[in-house]
Amino acid sequence: MLYYSYPKPENQHQRGNEMPIIYDEKKRVFKLDTPNTTYAFHVTNSNHLLHLYYGASIPETDITHMLRIPNDEPFVPSTHDGMGPHSFDCAAIEFPTSGVADFREPCMQLMDKYGMSACECYYDSYAIYKGKKKLEGLPATYANTDDEVTSLEVYCKDPHNGLEITLQYSVFEKLDVITRSVKVKNGGADPIELRRLLSACVELDSKDYDMITLYGTWARERHVQRNPLHFGKQLVDSCRGATSHAHNNFIAIVDHKATEDYGDCYGFALCYSGSFVAGCEVNQYEKTRVFSGINPYDFSWHLDLGEEFQAPEVIMVFSASGIGTMSRTFHDVMRNNLTRGKWKDIRRPILINNWEATYFNFDTDKLLDIARESAKAGIEMLVMDDGWFGHRNDDKSSLGDWFVNEDKIKGGLKHLVDEVNKLGLKFGIWFEPEMISPDSELYKAHPDWCIHIPGRPRTPCRSQLVIDFSRKDVRDYIYGQMYKILSSANIEYVKWDMNRQLCEVGNEVLPPERQREIWHRYVLGVYEIQERLLTDFPDLLLENCAGGGSRFDAGMLYYSPQIWCSDDTDPYERIYIQWGLSKFFPAKTMSSHVTNWNRNTSVKFRTDACSSCKLGFDIDLKSLSAEEYQFVKQAVSNYDLMKPVIFDGDLYRLVSPYEGNHCAINYVSKDHQRAVLFDLHPRYMEPLTTVRLQGLDPDRTYTVRETNLMPGKKSELTCDGKQYSGDYLMKVGLSVFTPRTGNSHVLILE
Ligand code: GLA
Repeated sequence: MLYYSYPKPENQHQRGNEMPIIYDEKKRVFKLDTPNTTYAFHVTNSNHLLHLYYGASIPETDITHMLRIPNDEPFVPSTHDGMGPHSFDCAAIEFPTSGVADFREPCMQLMDKYGMSACECYYDSYAIYKGKKKLEGLPATYANTDDEVTSLEVYCKDPHNGLEITLQYSVFEKLDVITRSVKVKNGGADPIELRRLLSACVELDSKDYDMITLYGTWARERHVQRNPLHFGKQLVDSCRGATSHAHNNFIAIVDHKATEDYGDCYGFALCYSGSFVAGCEVNQYEKTRVFSGINPYDFSWHLDLGEEFQAPEVIMVFSASGIGTMSRTFHDVMRNNLTRGKWKDIRRPILINNWEATYFNFDTDKLLDIARESAKAGIEMLVMDDGWFGHRNDDKSSLGDWFVNEDKIKGGLKHLVDEVNKLGLKFGIWFEPEMISPDSELYKAHPDWCIHIPGRPRTPCRSQLVIDFSRKDVRDYIYGQMYKILSSANIEYVKWDMNRQLCEVGNEVLPPERQREIWHRYVLGVYEIQERLLTDFPDLLLENCAGGGSRFDAGMLYYSPQIWCSDDTDPYERIYIQWGLSKFFPAKTMSSHVTNWNRNTSVKFRTDACSSCKLGFDIDLKSLSAEEYQFVKQAVSNYDLMKPVIFDGDLYRLVSPYEGNHCAINYVSKDHQRAVLFDLHPRYMEPLTTVRLQGLDPDRTYTVRETNLMPGKKSELTCDGKQYSGDYLMKVGLSVFTPRTGNSHVLILE
């Protein structure tokens, strides 16, 4: 990495000197610039850090007039120091700490040897460098080349307890993305208990925003919730040890009037897969503090002398032109700078999973049958789901016993995989490594290997307990079992499932002062094993899943380029779930399978809904009629042609299913040469709607062609086969309503 730290040039801004991060020594202002956004904060004479601005690009560095340091708030403690008289309760603090006259949500809190919790963050020095350092043990965005990202580290300390605090910022030079994190080190003379360390906080100068979050439950994940901010705290969180079905760790703060293509929008995605908190506090002065990080609930981390703690990263995006631009920026950074490995860019196979077709009731013959039918339809991989190991014939046993049940897998795993390969399909396998069934060989041998509190009942969920991934010996054992299976045959894909949340969190290994660390150590353990998998099997395609979409987060994307969205595969419901996820996850990452969950819908409608993401199948193809089978076969090959645009193009959400019974989105290739429009009417008898496309080249002529038609059927759309300018398509749009011929249409424009 090339360092260009001290001395710093003065009064320069990005457009003049192409430096994405500068420190103006005279004004004592740090200014961070992406192509269209600016983020700035100030070092006061008393060495406090005050936030100045985050929003659309500005050239000035001298923005200190934006400092708000009121000094005469009645009844609010105030200080008189190098800054003059001021009150922290009213100031925009860059990294707020607890117990020192700022009464709002702090980022940091601790307990020192005297049991005191006050702490502070005084500026000391900084470094600016090209590139981006890895976050030890944690997933995070990365720079493909050093010139893609510039990073800033601001070194701070609390002289009262010796704590060294490093505020970490990275600026993406071609994307409107700034990442933040923080690391603390105990540089003092006594141990410290860290009670809270949020990753970032951003102070906004108004309260006139809405907060968008993605809530849900099992089988109804990632529905969109949007509410105006009100005075006080409003947040979403998880204290379940996983991101959760209930709330995602992404939030957006947007103008009241913001739409897909209008208004200021701030997006915050936490790159973490455990308990989290994300929200805002609107204070009495009508300012908003946004925060995000590990949930302080039940969190504590013991820092012995010299020990460090690294908080996870928050990916921040600002868009001055609506929610759509914000989403597209998230999609770009996740595709280019978060997912990794062989499968990041190359064509990924269309897979069929046996779960919905067989549940636990399968054997080698049944699987080979599925593989044969799938091969004929052009499907490229068979995934063997839950039930191949131990004596597992329902969900009541055998998790932890990762050896093949040869009563079902007759002839052994290698035989099955070889036969599947001979049919021209790749082979993938399901694991749930983080779990243990009380009815298992492993539990008999090691009843203390699950997360538990000695003496207390162990509350089961789906008849299983959580294996203690905070323990290295336990992790090593489980990994050893997985390694054996994966190296015993040509297995090219793993579905890593996680089907319950954590409770009675404790173990018999860590000392009392470290028991509360288990929550985070567990998540680090999951990351460590997934990293080992990818290191030992670099060609492996990993897909994460957690009882459906309970851990669909940016942290998991660092390890697996695709994630299972939800166990709910009813295409009507999927439209809402996929719309919600698309607020910040790219289509490429969203696994979506055609199943029999809603047989009242046509196979075409189901396939069209899934084709708008990462298409796959979880269905007995033999249950389809000859016509439906032909359709699927054709749709698989159509998908292959559309995939580059869907996977690597830009998404435009056109008509929201949340506002009517209609959903329309289009993808446009980055060079604007091709587009794909998905028009899905979830419910019967929709009003006649014209869909205006977006993101096209206005001067280009596009030929419109309807695809994914039932065999022998011709398009009834009047636009089929016609040519239109991009300008026309975006201003006038296309009429895509044909009530008699089904309720979904897929159109290719090229
Ligand atoms: C979870 C997953 C499903 C399936 C089952 C198997 O529910 O989300 O896709 O793998 O587990 O038990």
